[in-house]
Amino acid sequence: MITCSAPGKVYLFGEHAVVYGYSAICCAIDLRTRVQVEISDTTIIESSLGITGPDLQTHPYITRVIEKMQDLADIKGVHIKIESEIPVGSGLGSSAAVTIASIQALNELFSCKLGLEDIAIIGHDVERQVQGNASPTDTYVSTMGGVVMIPERKKLNALDCSIVVGNTGKFSSTKELVANVARLRDEFPDIIDPILTSIGDMSHIAEEHVNNGDYSTIGKLMNVNQGLLDAIGVGGAELSALVYAARSTGAYSAKITGAGGGGCIVALAENNDAENIAQAIRDTGAEAIITRNTHKGVRLES
Ligand code: PMV
Repeated sequence: MITCSAPGKVYLFGEHAVVYGYSAICCAIDLRTRVQVEISDTTIIESSLGITGPDLQTHPYITRVIEKMQDLADIKGVHIKIESEIPVGSGLGSSAAVTIASIQALNELFSCKLGLEDIAIIGHDVERQVQGNASPTDTYVSTMGGVVMIPERKKLNALDCSIVVGNTGKFSSTKELVANVARLRDEFPDIIDPILTSIGDMSHIAEEHVNNGDYSTIGKLMNVNQGLLDAIGVGGAELSALVYAARSTGAYSAKITGAGGGGCIVALAENNDAENIAQAIRDTGAEAIITRNTHKGVRLES
């Protein structure tokens, strides 16, 4: 039996702009999905969503992973069991983590000799197949861990501060939000293009401050990024309530992470402030999780 795990992620900078080729900075977080695999007579996929065979309705990511891995190994039957600490469908990269952890688990079980870059590429293909269109960000950061700049695929220094995630619990469709931004850009290209360019430039300016661990400067820039996300229409009252709850309790920064509309915010904070910030988020009725950056990408656990 083999167990592999992979982390979720938050965006420090650059969601939406990354869709147009501008740079983003993404950070793996210490919330993981674990995938256990063993050879079996038939294929069984077991998760909190149910127990099925290969099934594109209930377990689309795992089913596509098995199909892809069948090109590399003679997989007759496999029992796959998933456990996740990452809230599903909230922009924290739960689908990338389950995809990447299961590719690595099957890679180990069937000795396919895939390297990390191969795993990230297959993972991105799977996400594209399931979602129609997906940037390589989530699958890349889940594979590599740490802090990465996309599309450059450059590793930056790890963050050594608390990361507080606030979850509105409101469903957000990445596809819909990306389409809304595209429509706004078609209508007002002279307004929206410079905003997307500024978001991309911000990632480049922030790179040095991430590498130097200058959280107060990173924070200032993240707060500007939040304003620009609002400007392109992916904010909302629920998200703003969490952003201001975090900022008013001492966070270096607070902004949307991911597609917006609903889903989550991310706040960077001094370790001593993290609990107060989390409580302020909970006081608005939302969920809060205190986590950290992890350098551990996809991992063989046992
Ligand atoms: O909400 P998430 O984690 O799926 O992030 C979406 C990020 C976008 O830039 C809006 C889309 C993408 O594919 O990069």
